[in-house]
Amino acid sequence: MTSFGRPEFEESVAAIRKQTQQQPVIGMILGSGLGKLADSVEQPDVIDYNNIPHWPMSTVKGHAHEMVIGRLEGQSVLILRGRSHFYEGYPLSQITLPVRVMKVLGIETIILTNAAGGLNRNFRSGDVMLINDHINMIGLVGNNPLIGPNDESFGPRFPDMTRVYDPALRQLAIDVAAEAGIPLMRGVYIGLSGPTFETPAEVRFLRMIGADAVGMSTVAEATVARHSGMRVLGFSGISNVVIDDPESERETTHDEVLAAGEVIVPRLEAIVRGVLRRYEAPAL
Ligand code: HPA
Repeated sequence: MTSFGRPEFEESVAAIRKQTQQQPVIGMILGSGLGKLADSVEQPDVIDYNNIPHWPMSTVKGHAHEMVIGRLEGQSVLILRGRSHFYEGYPLSQITLPVRVMKVLGIETIILTNAAGGLNRNFRSGDVMLINDHINMIGLVGNNPLIGPNDESFGPRFPDMTRVYDPALRQLAIDVAAEAGIPLMRGVYIGLSGPTFETPAEVRFLRMIGADAVGMSTVAEATVARHSGMRVLGFSGISNVVIDDPESERETTHDEVLAAGEVIVPRLEAIVRGVLRRYEAPAL
């Protein structure tokens, strides 16, 4: 299997630096149906993923293939419009290459967003959930993005995962949402491989083990970001309520997931903008 290390990250970084003069400090990855968040970036330098070596290409409808670097709410941001997923066949080391590239570029904080199914019975389609913690389901069964030789220059062999999602940034998001009158759920995200949606029996199992939202991304990216000392903030847009009854007439579809983005984007945008407005760089 191809592996991805410093030389590959440096080549990707060099290609990006050739295409922008800006020095972003906050990275963002936008999930299914959430790409519109990048539309309001000012002074954008747009880089097609095709023009960055080693970059994993998303093949999924609802995901674009570009990086947008520019300014949002006074901050210098690098936004990935579209991500790749494990179910597309990429190794986790390549799926998380963009996170390592952000780190090498000097980015200190990453905001991860995704579309997710609502497991928590209080959640409705269109809700936004602040990710408090995650369950790395793919990791628990033996595929963690940090498996393989450890590059100590990024982080330790056995990284602590007690606070993957930065407590201060979470509090900031809670404050911003409360002040703007936007309901903000909180909970645990569980990352599965997909591409199948869950069976009703799996849904009941995932609830039982403490997950509130289920999706097919984010966890590997958060793990690699945390490993290298980046601050992580994560949001799930609840695109659909999962189906726990095998007799149900309903089905889960990708189009439903994309459609919910229309409701989620304005809420998420208001929260993210508020966070950026009040963001302070971490003390060194
Ligand atoms: N399950 C898994 N991933 C998802 C879902 C879901 O119901 N909705 C959006 N992404």
